[in-house]
Amino acid sequence: MAQQEDVFKKLVAHCKEYGFVFPSSEIYDGLGAVYDYGQNGVELKNNIKKYWWDSMVLLHENVVGIDAAIFMHPTTWKASGHVDAFNDPLIDNKDSKKRYRADVLIEDLLAKYDDKIEKEVEKAAKRFGESFDAALYRQTNPRVQEHQAKRDEIHARFVKALNDSDLAELKQIIVDYEVVCPISGTKNWTDVRQFNLMFSTEMGSTADGAMKIYLRPETAQGIFVNYLNVQKTGRMKIPFGIAQIGKAFRNEIVARQFIFRMREFEQMEMQFFVRPGTEMEWFKKWKETRLKWHKALGLGDHKYRFHDHDKLAHYANAATDIEFEMPFGFKEVEGIHSRTDFDLSSHEKYSGKSIKYFDPELNESYTPYVIETSIGVDRTFLSIMAASYTEEQLENGESRVVLKLPAVLAPIKLAVMPLVKKDGLPEKAREIMNSLKFDFKCQYDEKDSIGKRYRRQDAIGTPFCVTVDHDSLTDNTVTIRYRDTMQQERVPVEKLHEIIAQKVSMKELFKKIVE
Ligand code: GAP
Repeated sequence: MAQQEDVFKKLVAHCKEYGFVFPSSEIYDGLGAVYDYGQNGVELKNNIKKYWWDSMVLLHENVVGIDAAIFMHPTTWKASGHVDAFNDPLIDNKDSKKRYRADVLIEDLLAKYDDKIEKEVEKAAKRFGESFDAALYRQTNPRVQEHQAKRDEIHARFVKALNDSDLAELKQIIVDYEVVCPISGTKNWTDVRQFNLMFSTEMGSTADGAMKIYLRPETAQGIFVNYLNVQKTGRMKIPFGIAQIGKAFRNEIVARQFIFRMREFEQMEMQFFVRPGTEMEWFKKWKETRLKWHKALGLGDHKYRFHDHDKLAHYANAATDIEFEMPFGFKEVEGIHSRTDFDLSSHEKYSGKSIKYFDPELNESYTPYVIETSIGVDRTFLSIMAASYTEEQLENGESRVVLKLPAVLAPIKLAVMPLVKKDGLPEKAREIMNSLKFDFKCQYDEKDSIGKRYRRQDAIGTPFCVTVDHDSLTDNTVTIRYRDTMQQERVPVEKLHEIIAQKVSMKELFKKIVE
């Protein structure tokens, strides 16, 4: 675990050093849980968004996109339930004056018991060697059983307290299990209170009667209030989906783990409108499709798992997360929710306008049910960076840091390098780059030794480096060097486009999703 934390720190430093992610307004010492994407970060982010967007609107003829405004009429958030229920339970430590989410403190406590169990099992595995039966050991070892019983007891109390919104019980769990503040080390806690996560601001001047409005905490509501506009103008028939990518804002109590939990972040959401009664079938289908989308990236199938929610959100009748194995454990990257007709019915009620769908096949009107897939751009970014960051010892005794990014997502697809800065090599390199730059993001680099230039490109995940040497001037061939294997190959210049296109095309990923 400590080793993983170390890797995570290095990853954060790497993101800054190589222009992926900077702390926001850093010259003023930054702003809590707000980050800026640098020159390489924005390319990676845009590629992630394109992969998601095209997987929705190209692969599904019944999914279309929209781009709604961040500001919405304030009643939207009353209808959606966010004004009344978008809260986190917070607790303060009176000695350190630090604020925590009570549910996160309890989740960390549960994780400690999981760790204890795993350590026991690991120790025993070492002791007993090959004949060790881990499953049997978990069932029979008294110490493991004791930890498991404690964990189950806490978990049961925790789930009940969340479902009953019982804040006193949340505090009682923290007290009973002697949770201490990681900063002060004391158990001197305040009561647990609810804290609304929405940011608000004012629209219009006060003289005109300013209106309190919210920065949207999810993009989904922009889809709900537009669903009938899209359905009518696009002549959409149920089932159909609306996709959207955009910023969302949450005043997170505890903003931790770099871009994992931010106060300003970006979501890619798709609401799929279905006939009531068919929602579970579509829930299952979208779960499968979304997992395939993640796995097609090739970061390792074992790094993903589903996690069904203990406590359903106020709008859902089924919900699961796709979790990814981050350096700090398995964490939610995407939520898939069966939102029933909660949102549409509620908007109908609050607006006083009918937003029912007329189903020509059934010859009746109804409020559609909704399956939502909601994924964070920033968390996807983090998961891809974490899985790609690799430190390698090379045979010649040197080491390198290489980002083994999926080639289709790499910020720069190829670097073009003249071996020396003279003899017409830069001109030849420019000529090659000019012929490829319409299709691929290229970078020209002539500074430093070729080895140093390779390392620079490894560090930002460039899958191909093309070196132009004196022979290139006479035989029109170049050396192409592959990032992951570091192998080099002599190829004719006219073959470059084909070699690169094959590896950086999203088509291969899409095929894996639809198969
Ligand atoms: N419309 C449903 C919804 O917003 P959510 O589970 O609260 O559901 C969906 O959020 C996704 O948005 C999460 O899986 C996560 O990837 C991302 N997300 C949520 N809060 C975030 C935050 N504070 N920072 C970064 N990403 C966040």
